[in-house]
Amino acid sequence: MTWTLARRAHKMNPSVIREILKVTEKPGIISFAGGLPSPKTFPVDAFAAACATVLKTDGRAALQYAASEGYRPLCEWVAQQLPWDVSPDQVLITTGSQQGLDLVAKVLIDAGSKILVETPTYLGALQAFMPMEPHVVSVDSDDEGVLPGDLQTKAADARFIYLLPNFQNPTGRTMSEARRAAVAQVAQTSGLPLIEDNPYGDLWFDQAPAISLSARLPDQSLYLGSFSKILAPGLRLGYVVAPRALYPKLLQAKQAADLHTPSFNQRVVAEVLKDGFIDRHVPTIRALYKSQCEAMLEALTREMAGLDVQWNRPAGGMFLWAKLPAGMDAVQLLPHAVDKGVAFVPGAAFYAAAPVQETLRLSFVTSTTEQIRTGVAALAQTIREHLPR
Ligand SMILES: Cc1ncc(COP(=O)(O)O)c(C=O)c1O
Repeated sequence: MTWTLARRAHKMNPSVIREILKVTEKPGIISFAGGLPSPKTFPVDAFAAACATVLKTDGRAALQYAASEGYRPLCEWVAQQLPWDVSPDQVLITTGSQQGLDLVAKVLIDAGSKILVETPTYLGALQAFMPMEPHVVSVDSDDEGVLPGDLQTKAADARFIYLLPNFQNPTGRTMSEARRAAVAQVAQTSGLPLIEDNPYGDLWFDQAPAISLSARLPDQSLYLGSFSKILAPGLRLGYVVAPRALYPKLLQAKQAADLHTPSFNQRVVAEVLKDGFIDRHVPTIRALYKSQCEAMLEALTREMAGLDVQWNRPAGGMFLWAKLPAGMDAVQLLPHAVDKGVAFVPGAAFYAAAPVQETLRLSFVTSTTEQIRTGVAALAQTIREHLPR
């Protein structure tokens, strides 16, 4: 039997990262490759108590089909904690913010639609967008994100720009206040809709990042948030905050996708979030990730001495971005690094066009500080042995 695939199915590709993770999940490998939060941060006891409470007080409703919009108290919590005027009626609870990206793709992209992304950008967003056959245009970016001048040149006729202003995946970079103001200005004058994805914004180390783009242009922005990095990703709980004009279409797309996000998970999270839990919990994640990041920066400074390797200093989040000596290819280096017991994600995976082969993403959150030291030393040794002649 030959199945004839839809055109869009040909645009679906296995996530390069998941393929890499298979190789790097060999026992004994120190992996800086995963995009997973540290399981140490998952509030297991709070969840055990909340599950028991929900089942005891609200068990039958929690196990029933529910509204596609989401559990109202959770929508209210989301609306209330965002730093601009958001109504709970604008909040759509999604099955992870990844589903939000999929709904955006279905509702806003036709074959051939021009959409703008950062250089580089989140691979999972490209995976969600590509089956809709857009014309993806990469906007030139520096270590603060997209360059307003290039955005201005490319904005005409674009359906939207997809932006990650805080501790970006993959680079860990953050947009400054001045850059946000300039980007918002260009978006406003060009009438360019913004898709703002912010799963890492709460994970700052010393100082909260500048206020969201969506707060500046609420009618022109669609904001994606997630509970994955502040509670646990296995819940698959995220949300979209949509302008009222767009909400009904997103809701219809969501109904077709899964009717609603699991009601039990939503009620349990609403129960966990009662009484300011997040304000006590998130600072513990920040402190852990900050110390892990410092351990990696120290190890890089020590081990890469004399090698022409560059890296940034993230102000939060889970990732650090590095650049190998000119002419080195991170894709080709990876198997040698794995042989030495360390893994990373080659940066090429994150470019919509013209990948920079020297780049790589390092996650600092799931390894111990001891593993970080050993892993960075192994990476430096691998680079030393494969320097271009
Ligand atoms: C930038 C970005 N957006 C969205 C997601 C999806 O997150 P989730 O579906 O777990 O909310 C991730 C996951 O790593 C991410 O890095």
